[in-house]
Amino acid sequence: MRNDMPKSGASQNETTFDRICVKRRDVLLAGGATVLLTVAGFPRPLWASTVGYPRKMLARVSDLQADDPISIAYPDEESPCMLIKLGVPAGGGIGKDDDIVAFSTLCTHMGAVMDGTYSAKHKCLGPCPLHLTRFDLTRHGIIVVGHATESLPQILLEIEGDNIFGVGMIGLIYGRASNLG
Ligand code: FES
Repeated sequence: MRNDMPKSGASQNETTFDRICVKRRDVLLAGGATVLLTVAGFPRPLWASTVGYPRKMLARVSDLQADDPISIAYPDEESPCMLIKLGVPAGGGIGKDDDIVAFSTLCTHMGAVMDGTYSAKHKCLGPCPLHLTRFDLTRHGIIVVGHATESLPQILLEIEGDNIFGVGMIGLIYGRASNLG
């Protein structure tokens, strides 16, 4: 029997286990000024940081033709992407038919550029020119076949009138520690 477990007839408030829990809770609830000390002894704030993406106009709905991708860049000029009206509803799709989506065109396996590999028949990007991975654009860019292990990063889109904006990204762009880095 663990000697920190409550003993018969003893007050549960007096166990070592409970004293540890109270101390931990007290630290976490001590207020906005609370800091934690790392192993190295440097203070770190408790609250998590959030990352904001640029809201960037990417295209006009009226310019899109089904199965005719356009090249864009998001969230910055070093990140090649494509925006397409698939003609069928898609995960994350916008527009009246939920069929407008946008993805990074850098393969998540080793970063090959997949521009020009869109298949209208299969609604896929690929095969990748290096190792033949295909990504399904109707299902958030999941892998259909190939060496990659991560889905294609998908741009979060918004429509305002005729304008399409990028407002965020699902997944990490190949080669980056942070999408905005
Ligand atoms: S770089 Fe695309 S499958 Fe390897």
